[in-house]
Amino acid sequence: MFNWKDEYYTGVDFIDEQHKRLFEIAGMAYDVYKNDFIVDKFDRIVEIINELKDYTEYHFGEEEAFMIKNNYKKFLSHKVEHDDLMKDINGIDFSKIDKDQEKSLLDLINFVIDWIQNHILKVDLNMTKEVIN
Ligand SMILES: [Fe+2]
Ligand SMILES: [Fe+2]
Repeated sequence: MFNWKDEYYTGVDFIDEQHKRLFEIAGMAYDVYKNDFIVDKFDRIVEIINELKDYTEYHFGEEEAFMIKNNYKKFLSHKVEHDDLMKDINGIDFSKIDKDQEKSLLDLINFVIDWIQNHILKVDLNMTKEVIN
């Protein structure tokens, strides 16, 4: 589900490497979701969310520094999207995970799919297209 495709390449190596890592983390969530042998998934879910949180914070910081360095004119609106995504991740309620672990994994997977489609494939790609050219 979270296999990397050529169409995801932005042409900026460090951004592509970091996006690949985000896909890996999303893939971990999907693997845990599919695995029926893990009876209690809580610890794995918390681990994945924390990893996603840390890596996203790092990635957004790097992307924002890149935009500033290149005087990207739509920097502010791009940063607003980053801040909103970060707010969503930080807002994940860990106490709800235990009530329905499968649902919380599905929510997490759908959140990342949405982010890939609406941010990475649109906003990030538009940004790199403009900066590189
Ligand atoms: Fe990105
Ligand atoms: Fe971005």
